Amino acid sequence: MTNFRSPRYSQSIALSSPEQNGSRDSLVAPLVQSTTYVQQTLPAEPGHTYSRCSNPTVDELERVLGELEGAPPAVCFSTGIAAETALILATLQAGDHVVAGAAIYGGTVRLLNDLFSNFGIEVSFVDATDVDAVRQSVQENTRLIFLETPANPTLELTDISAIAEIARHADALLAVDNTFLTAINQKPLELGADISVYSTTKHIEGHSAALGGAIVTRDEALLEKLRWTRKTTGTIQTPFNAWLTRQGIKTMPLRVAQHSQNALELARFLQKHPAVKYVNYPGLEDHSQHELACRQHLSGHGGVLSFEFVGGYEAAQQFLPHLKLGRLCEHVGTVETLYTHPASMTHCDVPHDQLIEAGITPGLIRLSVGIEEIEAIIADFENAADAIENSENENNKIKQPESKAELCTATS
Ligand SMILES: Cc1ncc(COP(=O)(O)O)c(C=O)c1O
Repeated sequence: MTNFRSPRYSQSIALSSPEQNGSRDSLVAPLVQSTTYVQQTLPAEPGHTYSRCSNPTVDELERVLGELEGAPPAVCFSTGIAAETALILATLQAGDHVVAGAAIYGGTVRLLNDLFSNFGIEVSFVDATDVDAVRQSVQENTRLIFLETPANPTLELTDISAIAEIARHADALLAVDNTFLTAINQKPLELGADISVYSTTKHIEGHSAALGGAIVTRDEALLEKLRWTRKTTGTIQTPFNAWLTRQGIKTMPLRVAQHSQNALELARFLQKHPAVKYVNYPGLEDHSQHELACRQHLSGHGGVLSFEFVGGYEAAQQFLPHLKLGRLCEHVGTVETLYTHPASMTHCDVPHDQLIEAGITPGLIRLSVGIEEIEAIIADFENAADAIENSENENNKIKQPESKAELCTATS
């Protein structure tokens, strides 16, 4: 039985006090679109100068994101990938080595494998569920360990405290992409990580209206380097997207609680469905890492799960067009229920062998469970599953894609 360490909490509305948001009396923090700021003296006094460097609306989002993890103000970026890029630029140089979880967002794999490798940064992808494997993959020149827990899209967990110990011994930084759980369900810094990384595009903004990324850390020197890197490369969050994200955070605790509750109910339902081969969701009592999930997660196990049909890829092709409530998209963490096919969408640029090794099979479907009524989500699934033709009886006839070219048409 899921037994959480602390009850659900709803701090974030309290975090929006007018006294702190930079205005005297406005309940909603003001949106400042100005690109520049008039200076009164020469040299200029400390403060905002130009919005590529900082902006009051972005400041307000940064204050709240930091406070949610008991940290100084975060550094916010135009996207999650921009945040990761800045992290690598600010912490590594040619000749350094990164240890990364094998199952992570495909765009992060592409960034490390296909871009930073050109600048002399070496990467090893490792099964991060295995603490010893992570320890063994650390080299003399390892400066960064980068994890996602739960991992996208396999939902495998990594023991953050155990890996933090390894990072400390290796004099490397531990960064945890906490996009899937948010600070509501997991606080990486409290578990020993140095850095929390977010795509705020997902649950934090929550309404599919604004891209964004953030880095939270208590390391003031690193925060300074990140702000410098952001200014130098021009990847700050836009004020309007920061404003939308700030508004989204007000309902984040409630949304994330509902996502988590719906995901648990749906995972239990899917587990018993005859067309479903297996379900990945660490909130399930019989999940091999459920004990770690209860130890590491705060008030729920998040709204994302993944599963495969008995009929594999062919069954997925038959099922997905029949959804009416759920939508097929590259996204997670929004109020609507979304289905994604990682092998052809989010993880399309991951080399084939690496995909299979990480458990991202052609039949795997990722499901971001929305906050609709759970009965409606289940009914939608059942209706679409009726379109699967005898998948459980015809395993020998299942047609799986034979090449990546057959699978991938577009990717983010
Ligand atoms: C876990 C995770 N981290 C980072 C990213 C990148 O975020 P963005 O799309 O905001 O650049 C994504 C995107 O899907 C993601 O799922």
